[in-house]
Amino acid sequence: MTNNLPADLNPEYLPQHVAVIMDGNGRWATQRGLPRIAGHRQGAKTLKELLRCCKDWGIKALTAYAFSTENWRRPTEEVDFLMLLFEKLLQREFAQMQQEGVRISFIGDLSSLSDSLQTQMRLIMAETSKNQAIHFIVAVNYGSRDEIVRVCRQLTQLAQQGELNPEDVNENLVAQYLYTAGMREPDLLIRTSGEMRLSNFLLWQLAYTEMYFTDIFWPDFDREAFHQALLSYQKRDRRFGQVKTTLTA
Ligand code: IPE
Ligand code: IPE
Ligand code: MG
Repeated sequence: MTNNLPADLNPEYLPQHVAVIMDGNGRWATQRGLPRIAGHRQGAKTLKELLRCCKDWGIKALTAYAFSTENWRRPTEEVDFLMLLFEKLLQREFAQMQQEGVRISFIGDLSSLSDSLQTQMRLIMAETSKNQAIHFIVAVNYGSRDEIVRVCRQLTQLAQQGELNPEDVNENLVAQYLYTAGMREPDLLIRTSGEMRLSNFLLWQLAYTEMYFTDIFWPDFDREAFHQALLSYQKRDRRFGQVKTTLTA
């Protein structure tokens, strides 16, 4: 399961779930005198490569932040380009991913996306739901606060209907109503481009996740850069509030 894993990485202590905030596409392009959209196009290739790398190295899940609830505030042309890019990528890459056994999920409020994109996403989720090679989770129109508000709304509705008692609300129940219900929490979060913030990404789910920040712009985040992130992860001691050293990924 661990093809071409660099020799200095311990296969026993790899993160099982990696999450990435793919940042710096715009700056990557601007630095080269290109329009920002060229950065997004290149960034999509980087993501495809990273997915392949995770699969090769035996990492079981990859979550990528593709579009935030705040990204609608960008110029219309950029938003339109990104939406078109998502559609084209899904069309172009779907068959190959299906063939490779990739299970694909989308998290976020899909209801504000175009009808054709929504239909395509729901179909892809249904058709790949039994695949087991790797779980690829794409966050589109995702915002963590929006996600948590949505959970509150659903739970209060149940309580109002007499189907839920306040004392039955606990962490497990809340987790079951998040977009990520049933998914393992990320072990490692990577953010590129030198920014050190979460930008409304997985606030609940990252409570005990190891974080790694790099100055590299997303389109340049290659296998070697990922290798460095994993080396850093393997030096960490995940204590989960305890005193002892835990050596299980
Ligand atoms: C991340 O790159 C991609 C998306 C948010 C869709 P940016 O577009 O944020 O790139 P910078 O941060 O402006 O360089
Ligand atoms: C976060 O990046 C969102 C995605 C990567 C999709 P942004 O570039 O939108 O974040 P801010 O605005 O710098 O916080
Ligand atoms: Mg950015």
